[in-house]
Amino acid sequence: MSLSETARAMRENAHAPYSGFKVGAAIRAASGRIHGGCNVENAAYPQGTCAEAGAIAAMVASGEREIAEVFVIADAADPVPPCGGCRQKLSEFAGPEVPVTMATLDGRTLTMTMDELLPLAFKSSRMRRP
Ligand code: THU
Repeated sequence: MSLSETARAMRENAHAPYSGFKVGAAIRAASGRIHGGCNVENAAYPQGTCAEAGAIAAMVASGEREIAEVFVIADAADPVPPCGGCRQKLSEFAGPEVPVTMATLDGRTLTMTMDELLPLAFKSSRMRRP
């Protein structure tokens, strides 16, 4: 399955009974392997997790740490951009030039780089530690 097909399939599995808004995400890691995730909501609302977070967790759990490409899909009029928290989560494993494609179910897409989505990202390299 391609990156976009994986994100679309993941979205079908989303657990989103509270918002009714299903999201699917897929990450191509540096190895070429694809990892997917979906949003998983919770009755205790703040405990819900985004699709991107699920895909990142799957990637890291399988032993990979470098994101080469991201694809996010949702049923919306316009491509849905990752939330602020997910931009920061992606930025932990994605360099500034990594492309993030946002897509609608009917095939509209918008691709931006990580740096465009999260300029001046806070990274571990910015920390001076004793
Ligand atoms: N959501 C994602 O999974 N990813 C995004 O990039 C935006 C928002 C989810 C969180 C929540 O389950 C639902 O969409 C509505 O905010």
